[in-house]
Amino acid sequence: MTTQQAEARAIFDDRFGSSERFTTIRGITKAARHVLSESAWDYLWTGTGAETTVERNSAKFDELLWEVPLFAGVRNPDTSTTVLGYDLSLPLFTAPFGQEATFHVDGHLAVGRAAERTGVQQMVPVAASYRLEDIAAASNAAHLYQMTLVGDEELVLEMMHRAKAAGYTHIVATYSPIRQWRERLIENRFASRSTGDNVNFGAGGSDPAGLQELIEFTRPRYTWVDAARVIARAPLPVIVKGVHSAADALAAQDAGAVGIYVSNYGGRTIDRTLSTIEVLPEVRAAVGPEMPIIIDSGIRRGSDIAAAVALGADAVAIGRLTALGLAADGEDGVARVIEILKQELWMTLGHLGCSSIDELSPNVFRRNPFAV
Ligand SMILES: Cc1cc2nc3c(=O)[nH]c(=O)nc-3n(C[C@H](O)[C@H](O)[C@H](O)COP(=O)(O)O)c2cc1C
Repeated sequence: MTTQQAEARAIFDDRFGSSERFTTIRGITKAARHVLSESAWDYLWTGTGAETTVERNSAKFDELLWEVPLFAGVRNPDTSTTVLGYDLSLPLFTAPFGQEATFHVDGHLAVGRAAERTGVQQMVPVAASYRLEDIAAASNAAHLYQMTLVGDEELVLEMMHRAKAAGYTHIVATYSPIRQWRERLIENRFASRSTGDNVNFGAGGSDPAGLQELIEFTRPRYTWVDAARVIARAPLPVIVKGVHSAADALAAQDAGAVGIYVSNYGGRTIDRTLSTIEVLPEVRAAVGPEMPIIIDSGIRRGSDIAAAVALGADAVAIGRLTALGLAADGEDGVARVIEILKQELWMTLGHLGCSSIDELSPNVFRRNPFAV
């Protein structure tokens, strides 16, 4: 063998070699299916009605086709960004999902640690299986606290002050008009008493009356006027979640929101709506280029993140993917989900000839059916 041949042999192509337990989201999904009960699996995947919005949320990404340039000269694209003052290794937050101990005993404590390890931020729900203070203390990534604007205004503000004292720096405000028709949960008579969704209320926590209204719907729900008054009095800047039209984006902006969170809760509120990726362009057009926009619902791949940013989002949030990672392997599983999404985003950027995520624009599409 000549030296040249020996050298060629030494450069062994091991690109698919990995000592990681999970190498794809598909593998993580399989592992999660294996460990979760039927009822927990249904809690994860349920939508409302016939679940057409759940389907549509991810299906619509497939209609966005790339225009792939030759000789773009890009090497090692940079996936990092800064959104709402948070430095992120990729444009991603973990979305808030309640009763998460259904998936893994460490719940949001593990999600926060995984977020910190991978350089992203965590959104923590009021309905978490752990108290907001304990989740804040578990990592340095829990800075956004999701709570529903409902019931007694003073109780809502008291909880925001509590979140601020614990170290959160943004409130993610949600609206919940009435219960949701989730057939899988109805058929399963799903109850989650063992994993709780009320640990933030009662002794040492917030007034249980706040919880009461959250789940019982006895009083009229907030109007934009009520929301604006609470946002003006809030001790932390507020992002409004659930925006699904230009009109609501403008209303949120007028109400004092510092960020817009385009979401249909992964199709878990009402069926037969547009997908979020379809409404994103009209929302961006309405609020202008400066307003931070986060989008969730249907993100399943790194290429979905690239598409969302190209259509005007500053970052995405992932709900079910985070839950799948949590179920598959706790903190390590969530970290792997984020690492895999980052790898895929990185490769997508390279193929699109973008050296950073700032270079993503509607020009990367061959076909953009959602243009406004
Ligand atoms: C199991 C589960 C529980 C959820 N609980 C909450 C919650 O307590 N508060 C909230 O604002 N959104 C909640 N969501 C919605 C997520 O924050 C997010 O909007 C949604 O999962 C995004 O869609 P995706 O799952 O397709 O990523 C939940 C979602 C799931 C899957």
